[in-house]
Amino acid sequence: MKVAVAAETDSGEPRVAATPETVKKMIGLGAEVVVEPGAGVKSGILDADYAAAGATVARDALGGADIVLKVRRPNSVELAQLKKGAIVIAIMDPYGHDDALRAMAEAGVTAFAMELLPRITRAQVMDVLSSQANLAGYRAVVDAAEEFSRALPMMMTAAGTVPAAKVFIMGAGVAGLQAIATARRLGAIVTATDVRPAAKEQVESLGAKFIAVEDEEFKAAETAGGYAKEMSKEYQAKQAALVAEHIKKQDIVITTALIPGRPAPRLVSKEMVASMRPGSVVVDLAVERGGNVEGVQADAVADVGGVKIVGYRNVPGRLAATASSLYAKNLYAFLEILIDKKTKALAVNWDDEIVKATALTRDGAVVHPSFKPKSAA
Ligand code: NAI
Repeated sequence: MKVAVAAETDSGEPRVAATPETVKKMIGLGAEVVVEPGAGVKSGILDADYAAAGATVARDALGGADIVLKVRRPNSVELAQLKKGAIVIAIMDPYGHDDALRAMAEAGVTAFAMELLPRITRAQVMDVLSSQANLAGYRAVVDAAEEFSRALPMMMTAAGTVPAAKVFIMGAGVAGLQAIATARRLGAIVTATDVRPAAKEQVESLGAKFIAVEDEEFKAAETAGGYAKEMSKEYQAKQAALVAEHIKKQDIVITTALIPGRPAPRLVSKEMVASMRPGSVVVDLAVERGGNVEGVQADAVADVGGVKIVGYRNVPGRLAATASSLYAKNLYAFLEILIDKKTKALAVNWDDEIVKATALTRDGAVVHPSFKPKSAA
């Protein structure tokens, strides 16, 4: 059983899908591990570190591999190197990329999309969305602090008292909750909002104040999978009015709101940005999905009337070493369920709920119910 660890081809992707620690564990599972040269460099891992863990480092790592571990979906050059039936495990970014899914199916690879994991207890250890969003939430606060023209904590000095900064977190999922915790640790006064009622208690348990329109629609706004629903126009208008009043008084706003399979909800208008004091900062973690903030620019810090709008993509990649170490562990945990520990061979149980939820392509076709071509669905 040959497992290949790919060097990411996208220049905006510094993460890697395996670490020396997970290489050792994969060898323990009976795998032969081959790593593409330089795969871990941007995450601080040298080829020699992989070799010391027992992997081979080789240019043609992908050729003949039974399993390929990646961060991002394979491109056409990579697909051409893979054998038919090879398993590829990555963050596949499937929504709106039908052509890319078809290309994987046509290449005959079995693609697993890690972001489609069901949010069940058994899958938590494999949950790449959580491991990476947690780091993004932390980094968003660090990035905001860097751009902010004032200090975050209250300071009592001989020269006078510096007030604590006011930080507002929009979207209190995994990223938002970590942003709350980080901003609190830095001494800020933190408020947060979300459309899921379950978020209220979580926000309050972290010592932040919860702000939201808590009407009947709000009380029913969580899906069985624990995700947000797209809210009605009426709700959005009420929410916008409440938020507009609140944002005027904030120093830093961090937005993290996402709806699976939909564009990110627009939560901060240009009027709201204009209502903030110069020197304030808005960080939009949803920029890759269209952004929560009007005027956000991808991979830039936009200055809009003295308010900085931070729009870095791939924020987990800004902490590449930590992000890779957690991502690699997620992938290893997923790999474990595909392998029979006794025979040390691949043994995919296609009835396993985790396998079913994540399998995108198989035997030349797109098989996932959410992405199958309409005629086949
Ligand atoms: P996400 O990344 O899809 O969205 C981020 C946040 O934005 C969510 O909290 C969502 O409710 C919020 N949001 C969406 N539209 C909004 C709007 N118009 N205004 C304000 N906020 C809005 O969500 P994430 O972080 O992946 O987490 C979703 C839930 O799943 C959380 O409750 C999390 O704790 C839970 N979860 C459960 C796991 C499990 O295994 N049981 C594992 C990981 C997360």
